[in-house]
Amino acid sequence: MATIGVIPGDGVGPEVIGEALAILQDLGAAHNLGLSFQSFDLGSDRYLRSGEVLPDSVLQELAGCDAILLGAIGDPRVPPGVLEKGLLLRIRFEFQQYINLRPVQLMPGVETPIKGKGSGEIDMVVVRENNEDLYVGAGGFTRKGTPEEVAIQTSINTRAGVERCLRYAFALAEKRAKDRVFPGLSLAAREAGKRGLVSLVAKTNVLTYAHDLWNRAFEEVAPDYPSLATDYHHVDACCMRMVVAPERYDVIVTTNMFGDIITDLGAVLQGGMGVASSGNLNPERTFPSMFEPVHGSAPDIAGTGKANPIAAILSIGMLLDHLGAAEAGSSVRSAVAQVLADPNGPKTPDLGGTGTTREVGRAVREAVSRS
Ligand code: NAD
Ligand code: IPM
Ligand code: MN
Repeated sequence: MATIGVIPGDGVGPEVIGEALAILQDLGAAHNLGLSFQSFDLGSDRYLRSGEVLPDSVLQELAGCDAILLGAIGDPRVPPGVLEKGLLLRIRFEFQQYINLRPVQLMPGVETPIKGKGSGEIDMVVVRENNEDLYVGAGGFTRKGTPEEVAIQTSINTRAGVERCLRYAFALAEKRAKDRVFPGLSLAAREAGKRGLVSLVAKTNVLTYAHDLWNRAFEEVAPDYPSLATDYHHVDACCMRMVVAPERYDVIVTTNMFGDIITDLGAVLQGGMGVASSGNLNPERTFPSMFEPVHGSAPDIAGTGKANPIAAILSIGMLLDHLGAAEAGSSVRSAVAQVLADPNGPKTPDLGGTGTTREVGRAVREAVSRS
């Protein structure tokens, strides 16, 4: 038995969640997972109607769920930050979802704008720290609205918070290396018997306190994972390398802010915002984890049927993995792979097709039912 809290949210959120949810329901029944669903009316409509963003009582109800599925939040009628901080970030923080796991995998049949790269060359995962850094909201204004105004927003980095994130990334790289030796490993690393690679992405040349802590923790933790090679890239160089040599990344571990930025770039490498999935994980399972597409509410295409539901659908694959239903999780991924690889399969306009959200959702649903 597992209860899934569903927050469809704003814009394209409800459209893509509708498709993902239908598939999750089918899989729940087919694999006897005993799933039940509880929908939460949260987002811009509720805020505009009542002024409520996330009442404490609702947060408590969410805490009783085994996992949460979120569409997206954000609305042009609501000032920036109200819903993002009050709802999304509050859930990430209150439920200690300190890992934001964002796979970047180019699937066959999807085009990447990166010239000359195919699906074998873009297969990395970003482990984004999700509870610290600039996102904590430490700071404030003085003399706001005057010419002497000062605005401060501080990056918080704790040794414990950094280390738990690093260890998660190393353990994940070990898991990935169980099935295969990472093909992008250098010859030297191979000869040293390494099987996987963890890349720290930070800015140690400028953030000489915060990222010095990250770098020291990284170097202290690495020897506990002897099968893994490590390297380090400054975040600016990482952006360059993700484009020119994406095949050199296996697991990237990085800070909250940098992880936010490089995973939009990662989304583009794998075919766009329409296919990028994520999980906000509380690895200890003290609190529910939350699964969501990387994309936002996409107000520019909301209501047009153009939203690609694949990102949301792949997010339920991650949700199922987290619930321990690995077989159901992998059937989501293979169904998506089948639909994308089929030259006659429906695709939404972001992937160059003319299909609608519904049609793509239905095609994946049918592929799941055949598996
Ligand atoms: P966005 O991700 O909503 O949109 C960026 C671009 O990607 C747009 O052109 C959009 O049409 C396209 N896109 C997004 N999802 C798509 C999909 N499923 N299929 C096809 N195309 C898609 O980012 P934005 O425009 O910067 O933000 C819009 C709002 O969403 C803001 O309020 C922002 O704060 C919020 N936001 C929320 C989340 C979240 O809920 N997790 C994430 C990012 C942004
Ligand atoms: C994301 C989004 C959020 C973030 C915003 C909406 C708060 O951009 O999930 O990537 O910055 O984490
Ligand atoms: Mn983002």
